[in-house]
Amino acid sequence: MCGICCILSFSVQPCIDVLKGATLHCLKRRGPDSSHLLIKSGNDLGYQCLFLGQVLHLRGLLTPQPIEDKSSNIFLWNGELFGGVHVESMDNDTQVMLHHLSSCNSESDILSLFSTIQGPWAFIYYQATTHCLWFGRDFFGRRSLLWHFSSDLEKAFCLTSVSALVPEPNNYLWQEVPAFGIFRIDLKACAASKQVLLTWYPWKSATTDYITKDISQGNVDEMTAFPKFVSVVRSETGLCLTAPVVPLNRTLPSSAEHQCTVSTTKATAQDLQIFLSDKHRKKLVHQLIEVLDKAVKKRVKCLPQCTDPSRTPMQAPKSLERRANIAILFSGGIDSMLLAVLANRHIPLKEPIDLLNVAFIMKGQNQQTGSGKTQSRQKLPSELLTCPEHSETLDIPNGALFSSFNVPDRITGRAGLKELEAISPSRTWNFVEINVTLEELKEMRQQHINHLVQPLDTVLDDSIGCAVWFASRGIGVTNSNGERQPFTSMAKVVLTGMGADEQLAGYSRHRIRFNARGLEGLVEELGMELGRISSRNLGRDDRIIGDHGKEARFPFLDEDVVSFLNSLPIWDKVDLTQPRGIGEKLILRAAAKELGLTTSALLPKRAMQFGCRIAKLENSNEKASDKCKRLHSIST
Ligand SMILES: *[C@@H]1O[C@H](CO)[C@@H](O)[C@H](O)[C@H]1NC(C)=O
Ligand SMILES: *[C@@H]1O[C@H](CO)[C@@H](O)[C@H](O)[C@H]1NC(C)=O
Ligand SMILES: *[C@@H]1O[C@H](CO)[C@@H](O)[C@H](O)[C@H]1NC(C)=O
Repeated sequence: MCGICCILSFSVQPCIDVLKGATLHCLKRRGPDSSHLLIKSGNDLGYQCLFLGQVLHLRGLLTPQPIEDKSSNIFLWNGELFGGVHVESMDNDTQVMLHHLSSCNSESDILSLFSTIQGPWAFIYYQATTHCLWFGRDFFGRRSLLWHFSSDLEKAFCLTSVSALVPEPNNYLWQEVPAFGIFRIDLKACAASKQVLLTWYPWKSATTDYITKDISQGNVDEMTAFPKFVSVVRSETGLCLTAPVVPLNRTLPSSAEHQCTVSTTKATAQDLQIFLSDKHRKKLVHQLIEVLDKAVKKRVKCLPQCTDPSRTPMQAPKSLERRANIAILFSGGIDSMLLAVLANRHIPLKEPIDLLNVAFIMKGQNQQTGSGKTQSRQKLPSELLTCPEHSETLDIPNGALFSSFNVPDRITGRAGLKELEAISPSRTWNFVEINVTLEELKEMRQQHINHLVQPLDTVLDDSIGCAVWFASRGIGVTNSNGERQPFTSMAKVVLTGMGADEQLAGYSRHRIRFNARGLEGLVEELGMELGRISSRNLGRDDRIIGDHGKEARFPFLDEDVVSFLNSLPIWDKVDLTQPRGIGEKLILRAAAKELGLTTSALLPKRAMQFGCRIAKLENSNEKASDKCKRLHSIST
């Protein structure tokens, strides 16, 4: 993860107040390993560009940013090349990208480069010969990039990975750069016309599809309130980027054959067996395992071993032990379990894997912890276990339920750990229990999280933002040989299961949609979800996780995984006539079963904000889509 920033102005003095104080601090936290500033200016140019690069070193030799080539092209890169162009294990992908960009002679060369590469990215590229500034985010928007237009043309324009909130009234209203394509500004022309014209190159799919539709119907201008001197136009040349995934298969079943299978009320392993008894489906399940396995492999390989002395773990006497290089946001649910099982295949056995499990203390539970003598289960808040039938299968030790941090995700997390230990007993699995109190939540939200969540601002963004921030920070307690020890995860790479629910109908809204509008409605909903995942989730999660100097990686959003799932008709992926815990993400559950998972393969989806109990912590009367007032207070 890196923090990148570019400030463009059409005055003699570069405008650097954006970089004073808090925003610079936020950028530095993302990229603690190197910091450089480069200013492009000149009286004859009519514009000034300031480039700032904060680098988190992950592979190859440390390459400070911004980097400049012999022709004075300047490049800022916050991304990972996982495919499309070749990167040797010791190469730095920033250099490789600039090398390719340097040899681009035309717009279409640049577009075909960004159409070819796979992996998450946000970039800013200054092409010296043409006086053009290019920037954008990958197809899914897996890396954050914000923009801001000042009301004053002289100060013009700023791009940054993350920005601090500033007290009202302010001139800095930030928006996420839409992940709808990439953009180009002709700086010389803008300086001459006193207008900022953004040329937009949209993503295009091979066939008509939701993605193309969204783009051609949605006008970028309308999404954002730009000052008068700014406009966005589609490239006159009609040039586009090629979408890196195949379009969603919208075929609906023609016969009743796929419409409705036996509907049971409780998910059982036998249902998965039935699904797998179909030879064709079994083949699909194995193809899914294969493609997901490759996606995980790419994301856990070629990492620097963690030898940086400034990142020493808290438990000093054990520091000689090997440290984990990979951590997983871990609820014990099916998505995180699959990631753990697959990561286990590719990470050397002697290296631990950190499983980050977050819990927020439950309201009114503080007092009960101490005095928990003979409380009966009936006295527990009914929402403790969203799905009571699973509490039985999970074998919760007597009394454990009374600890205030035993939220649903903690309980499933522990059960998941047991399954992983059974599958890979010689691996050290660091199950990191991250307990967060209300006081700590309030303090960290004010100091850090509210800056990172913006420009998003709902109650849901707040809940998930806070939960992911504490989880990915990785400070908690582990239990080794019955002894509790403070533990800090040092892993720079954090795997998350993001994207599985959007593609495989994991959310309750999918069931609502299916019940109301059948398979057609469901397919439509799924098509839309992937199209908006950048603005709903990914920019935010990248800012949140990046704040710890760590990098989020999303195997379920690997281009090949998405293409595979998109190519399948809906009935081979999910069956919402089946109960919760089986019908949603059915193909994934079958894959989990084939990989040896048992209980976790049948856990119903539980949204993170409920699983870790943050949603109940402060104000349970709010709706998830309400604007969150708590995000707006900033510490001075
Ligand atoms: C990576 O960056 C270093 C400098 O940080 C440079 O010496 C090396 O040549 C680069 N590797 C590639 C493949 O560009
Ligand atoms: C964290 O919560 C768990 C319950 O899940 C509890 O057993 C543990 O003692 C707590 N640790 C701390 C440091 O509060
Ligand atoms: C969609 O799925 C159907 C049924 O499996 C298949 O026949 C068709 O070829 C698929 N379409 C695409 C574009 O993959």
